[in-house]
Amino acid sequence: MVDLTTSYLGLKLKNPLVASPSPLSEKVETVIQLEEAGIAAVVLHSLFEEQVIHESLELDHYLDYGTYSFSEALTYLPDTGRYSLSADRYIEHLHKVKEAVKIPVIGSLNGVSSGGWVKYARKIEDAGADALELNIYYLPFDPNLTSTDLEKTYVRLVSDVRSQIRIPLAVKVGPYFTGMANVMKQIVEAGANGLVLFNRFYQPDFDVDELEVSPNLVLSTSDELRLPLRWIALLYSQIKADFALTTGVHTARDVFKAMMAGASVAMMASELLKNKPGRVAEILVEMENWMVEHEYESIQQMKGSMSAQTTREPHALRRSNYIKVLSSFKYLP
Ligand SMILES: Cc1cc2nc3c(=O)[nH]c(=O)nc-3n(C[C@H](O)[C@H](O)[C@H](O)COP(=O)(O)O)c2cc1C
Repeated sequence: MVDLTTSYLGLKLKNPLVASPSPLSEKVETVIQLEEAGIAAVVLHSLFEEQVIHESLELDHYLDYGTYSFSEALTYLPDTGRYSLSADRYIEHLHKVKEAVKIPVIGSLNGVSSGGWVKYARKIEDAGADALELNIYYLPFDPNLTSTDLEKTYVRLVSDVRSQIRIPLAVKVGPYFTGMANVMKQIVEAGANGLVLFNRFYQPDFDVDELEVSPNLVLSTSDELRLPLRWIALLYSQIKADFALTTGVHTARDVFKAMMAGASVAMMASELLKNKPGRVAEILVEMENWMVEHEYESIQQMKGSMSAQTTREPHALRRSNYIKVLSSFKYLP
């Protein structure tokens, strides 16, 4: 038998497969199905800053009816589905999930500004979460906002959330930073125990008939794994944090790549949404078979084996890879 165990944020996990936030965690039954299929931990879908603010603005509105306009804030949120769930119902849901399963349950907060809403970090901890994932998503479209100011906003939010909780904290970010390695270092210094790389940005499309901006979500493919893979390989051992790879994990091979780059866990959303929770069991079998065939005894043994520090070709992860990749393309007229 091969040893699939890993540890992430101080949690001992039976394998490196973790369910990334998605609608799969909205129902307790689906989380139970994920557990039965063998998932090692689940990160709940996020509680959004806007949900918390929406709720408190509504409260202000009732207290001070007619004097306070909150209509703009209300337009942030779709009025159906989980985003209309009140923040306190999110906490209740987390509590129910926690009671229903034995695997670690990680809560998720999604926001960008420091402020009163971060108190929900503590509510998530009090509801029994084993850790918290903070997803910071901000689109810097203001030409007067400098990258330094933006980075400060991220770091401030991380330290604010850290100050609310004692449980481990992972921070999920996108790939668009000028000084990626330095920002990751600052986030860890501000109190993050883990880095979840990378947030997947959903680009809106244009409907040219209706002249509308149309959101439509396309699930990922394994090709998208390369961006987080490269960055984890570059940052592993330089930054003292656990890494979780998200975006593009669909197969056992994708999981191995994540481990070899240096990730402690591989997170999955698209694959499980497409092929249902039972897919976890198939991937685990594929992993065991491949590891036996390739004489690996444990996941630990492969962790970081292809990271920049360990690989025989660190330059292949850096700039020279660019020239090599371009010249590898053969144009056939
Ligand atoms: C329908 C859907 C809902 C999602 N909701 C959240 C969310 O609430 N919070 C979050 O941090 N990520 C959310 N994500 C992002 C996923 O957790 C994951 O990071 C992303 O889909 C990339 O992983 P994948 O390639 O396995 O899909 C969502 C993804 C999908 C497809």
